[in-house]
Amino acid sequence: MSHAEDNEGTRRDFLYYATAGAGAVTAGAAVWPLVNQMNPSADVKALSSILVDVSGVEVGTQISVMFLGKPVFIRRRSQEEIDEARAVDLSVLIDDSSENPNKPGTDAADQNRTMDENGEWLVMMGVCTHLGCVPLGDGSGDFNGWFCPCHGSHYDTAGRIRKGPAPQNLHVPVAEFTDATTIKLG
Ligand code: FES
Repeated sequence: MSHAEDNEGTRRDFLYYATAGAGAVTAGAAVWPLVNQMNPSADVKALSSILVDVSGVEVGTQISVMFLGKPVFIRRRSQEEIDEARAVDLSVLIDDSSENPNKPGTDAADQNRTMDENGEWLVMMGVCTHLGCVPLGDGSGDFNGWFCPCHGSHYDTAGRIRKGPAPQNLHVPVAEFTDATTIKLG
């Protein structure tokens, strides 16, 4: 075999493998959308619900978790916070909807905002309904709940808008207790 033939053979082999490689990539690219189409519910389901262990959340404190790219506040309210929220006359509220998909069509009474009847657990999107900033918590603002410093929106201890430019109460996400210490979001 001459050197020329040898080089030719090497180049042919190289071309062959390069072509095979390109073929494999193309096949892979074609398979992905197919799998995606066949499996949309499993795919979406995995992304759209999470379990949160709330066993470590003390009374009068909250945790924030990220859910679908947004913060969710999970607050275990003190009795004072509950009493304050329940003492509010609904006629003074800016948004009279519970904004709670778990209790659709209900008014903004404190009982319609919380996870449990006693009102200890309040779960809300940590997204100001004005322009989407993340409000400060732990008794912030004029109503001892949450305060959005971006343009000065004050939310009460039930997360209801009370003062400032935000038009709606903080939204409650789809959520449920799956056992005594686990909240499923989504
Ligand atoms: S984004 Fe919260 S007050 Fe404007």
